[in-house]
Amino acid sequence: MSSLYAAGILGTGSFLPEKRLTNHDLEKIVETTDEWIHQRTGIRERRILEEGASALSMAKSAAKKALERSGITADALDLIIVATVTPDYLTPSMSCSVQAGIGAVNAAAFDINAACTGFIYALNVAQQYIANGAARHVLVVAVECLSRVTDWQDRKTCVLFGDGAGAAVLGRVEEGTGILASLVGADGTQGGVLTLPAFHMTDADRAVRSEGKTQVLWMDGSEVFAFAARIMSDSVRKVSEKAGLLVEDLNWIFPHQANMRILQNAQKRLKVPMDRIYSNLEQTGNISSASIPVCLDEAVEKGLLKKGDTLVLVAFGGGLTYGATAIRWTMD
Ligand code: ACO
Repeated sequence: MSSLYAAGILGTGSFLPEKRLTNHDLEKIVETTDEWIHQRTGIRERRILEEGASALSMAKSAAKKALERSGITADALDLIIVATVTPDYLTPSMSCSVQAGIGAVNAAAFDINAACTGFIYALNVAQQYIANGAARHVLVVAVECLSRVTDWQDRKTCVLFGDGAGAAVLGRVEEGTGILASLVGADGTQGGVLTLPAFHMTDADRAVRSEGKTQVLWMDGSEVFAFAARIMSDSVRKVSEKAGLLVEDLNWIFPHQANMRILQNAQKRLKVPMDRIYSNLEQTGNISSASIPVCLDEAVEKGLLKKGDTLVLVAFGGGLTYGATAIRWTMD
């Protein structure tokens, strides 16, 4: 399908809570060690949202920063998409609350649930709104408060997750720049390996959770690992090819930050140097959908991205879902 307009990222933003939970802090909560966690995951600490604070507060901070960077005013937004599996409310949606919170009076708003792939899915949708002329400016926010759905008695999961938000403002860019290609996919038959119940629980869901715990995340880590190992490198290859890029020529790969061993595995399969694979996992843990936009904003702040650079964003997550976006960077 031909598109009328090229779409690209005009500004990025992010927010991480102040409070740090280190591996040594976790040693006092569950039977674990800093050494085990770091060796098996690459994580040293994660950020935790203060009690009483909302996911919305993180989403708004990230959104405002992205708007400021892009030079776009809130009333110029046509659409807001929020990716999250940990909204403050199911209704109103996070996106409607963000719309009110930043005064985006002209924007339509809806949420997307694609777990850790949420930001990639949201970019994919935003691009199409812009490409066909249905929207001029779209705000994409990914926000997660995983600490609130973590089973703090389950050492297999509680060491992995953190909280935070990332955002991007998208708009029209010069033809041949911005989002060059994207792909999204799912394998629902594997949905049971990573679950977070809402209003319905099966006996099987209860059986794997600590006594009395309902709305907590449960994961078969090795199954997710096997899926991630294959899908990360496949997706980078496929989206690069679709965009007419060679993997070895990519300036940066921004993978979902789930586990350092998954990133190393992808690096070996793709045969790219590790210093082209961005990672902040050690300080943030896994922030699900927010992990990629938080990394992007960090890279912008550090001055690592130059206009014309080629990037691939790639993620996998609950669902199971996966996706990737190839970008020719347009921000100065
Ligand atoms: N501290 C100490 N020991 C632990 C801990 C811990 N925190 N967690 C598990 N162990 C123990 C287990 O009980 C097990 O002991 P046993 O052999 O006596 O039963 C042993 O360590 C090995 O457990 P495994 O689960 O096989 O450990 P593994 O090396 O697979 O690491 C991990 C687990 C880190 C979860 C890994 O499977 C993984 O990273 N999987 C990928 C999943 C992922 O990253 N998901 C991200 C979230 S989902 C998403 O982003 C979409």
